[in-house]
Order: sequence, then structure tokens, then C-alpha cells
Amino acid sequence: MYRIEKSEQLADRVYQMWVRAPHVAHHAQAGQFVIFRIDERGERIPLTISAVDGDSIRVIFMTIGKTTTHLASRAAGMHIQDVVGPLGKPSEIRHYGTCVLVGGGVGSANLPIIARAAKVCGNRVIGIIGARTASLVIVEEEMKNACDEFFLATDDGTRGFHGFAADVLKQVMAKEPVDCVWIIGPAIMMKVTAECTRASGIRTFVSLNPIMVDGTGMCGSCRVTVDGVTKFACVDGPEFDAHKVDFNALMQRLRIYPAEEKVSLEKFEKHRCRCGCEGDDRHA
Ligand SMILES: Cc1cc2nc3c(=O)[nH]c(=O)nc-3n(C[C@H](O)[C@H](O)[C@H](O)COP(=O)(O)OP(=O)(O)OC[C@H]3O[C@@H](n4cnc5c(N)ncnc54)[C@H](O)[C@@H]3O)c2cc1C
Ligand code: FES
Repeated sequence: MYRIEKSEQLADRVYQMWVRAPHVAHHAQAGQFVIFRIDERGERIPLTISAVDGDSIRVIFMTIGKTTTHLASRAAGMHIQDVVGPLGKPSEIRHYGTCVLVGGGVGSANLPIIARAAKVCGNRVIGIIGARTASLVIVEEEMKNACDEFFLATDDGTRGFHGFAADVLKQVMAKEPVDCVWIIGPAIMMKVTAECTRASGIRTFVSLNPIMVDGTGMCGSCRVTVDGVTKFACVDGPEFDAHKVDFNALMQRLRIYPAEEKVSLEKFEKHRCRCGCEGDDRHA
């Protein structure tokens, strides 16, 4: 059992949670993820390791279905049944020159750990965070501290640049040479933003988020197509060359189980504990 050290809401439907997991914390590198199973009946969900402090790791997640909603209801002092990790290959961080890190929505949570590691390798690091609206902006201070330069964009113009993070990336590229780019966010955002760097051939990484089950390369559920070849995101990724990813296939596979996911969330909401203890249906 893994103790939740801290749990708090950061923005609308976005939560951060620090969990004591020394076996993960002592080995985790930027770009890697964990698989959580909340209790013995829970499903396994992958979450990126967004920070490490001593024996604890931090995950930042958005509630979009049953398990993330259940996780958000867990408070400090409670426990997670299983924490498996660190999984996946670390980000390919080395000295590139100027690196631009672009985050969209909750994907931005995973940029500060990459920014800090890129700085250690002597890169100039420029951070760009995009959010739908001001109330959804996360990790802004962390990015300001980790990057040499930082930009914020909101789709509705309520904070920072009025428009998409991709527009800011284009502006940065017009102003100075860029050697490497990371884009982390929803699949459609990564697909569109990756087109900004294709023509100039700038090395661009994306972190893919297909449905995962075991996280160790055995079940095949996380298969993605990269450069026409089938890869398992859990062991071959989750980061891949953005210009070689088949995003349409990824987006199609992400929509395989909407009916089951809807039923699962409805069942959970219907039976969850009303006293506010932990939203666990055993207490209904
Ligand atoms: C390597 C990796 C790292 C991730 N890191 C983060 C993170 O740091 N923060 C964050 O908010 N989300 C992250 N995700 C996505 C997160 O795992 C899903 O949001 C979560 O599993 C949804 O579970 P649910 O029961 O709440 O929603 P459900 O209702 O079950 O599903 C909603 C949608 O979430 C996706 N999903 C469902 N089950 C899984 C699964 N087992 N694996 C992957 N995607 C799934 C599907 O697109 C689905 O349509 C990551 C995914 C991957 C693959
Ligand atoms: S999650 Fe099973 S092979 Fe990747």
C-alpha cells in the first residue's frame, strides 16, 4: 500500500497527488510513468511522473472517467493499493541547444520535470503552456522557474497570448533557431502542433497516451503506429518522433470503449459514498 502524502485540486477537474513510493522515486526519470491501481478491484491507469521529492512522486491528473474521479476523491493519509513503475523509456534529454517545450491542457504537468533535466544538460529552455481558459492554467510558476523564457496562451484570451500554443511556437521559431521541441497534450493538439516543425525538420518529441493495461509490453493494448511500424507505447515509448506518428490511428483507438466508460462512471457516481469519505462504492 502506498500512502498519499498530499492531495489537492489545482484547477477545474485537475488534481495533484504526492504518493510515497520509494521504489519509483529513487529511479524515476523525466518522461516516465507509473500505473496506479486504487484498490484490489480497481482498473490500472497510467499517469506520468511529474515530479519527484525524496521518497515521493507527484502525479497531476484530470478527472475524465471512473478511475480518475475515484482517485480525486482520495485524500492525504489514504492509500493506493499498487504503484508500478517507473515505466517507459525516459525522455531523450541531452545537449541540443535551444529546446522548446509545449504543453496543452493537463499535458503541461509533465513539462517542468523535462525542463529541469534539459537545463542540467546545458540547453536553453523555452516553455509554452496552452490552456482553454485562464482557470485551467497549471504549473505556471514551476515552468517560469525551470525555463529561460516562458509563454502562456489561452484559447479564449483570458490570460497570456490569445490563441493556441502552436501559434506561440511559430512565433518563437520565427525569432530564433530552435533545435528540439517537446509537445505534450491531447492527441489532436500534438498532431496539429507537430506540423509547425515538420518542414524545418526540427527534432520533435510527443508523449503518446494510448489505452494501457499491463504497461510492460505484454497485452498489446497500447499499440501505436510509428513510421509504419507497430510499437508498444508502454515499452517503446511513450515518447516518439512526432513526425512519424500515425495520430489518426491513435485517436481512433482512444475512442474504442466510450459506452463502457460511460456506464462505469455512471455506476460509480450512483453508488459512491455520500458521506464524502473516499467515494468508494463499498461505503454506499
Ligand atoms: C503513458 C501515459 C501517461 C498518462 N499520464 C497522464 C497524466 O499524467 N495525467 C492525466 O490526467 N492522464 C494521463 N494519462 C491518461 C490517463 O491514463 C487516463 O485519463 C485514465 O486512464 C482515464 O481513466 P478513467 O477511468 O478516469 O476514464 P475512462 O472513462 O475509463 O476513460 C476515458 C478516456 O481515457 C482514456 N483511457 C481510459 N483508460 C485508459 C488506460 N488504461 N490507459 C490510458 N488511457 C486510458 C481513453 O481515451 C478513454 O476514452 C496518461 C496515459 C498514458 C498512456
Ligand atoms: S500496455 Fe500492454 S503492451 Fe503496452
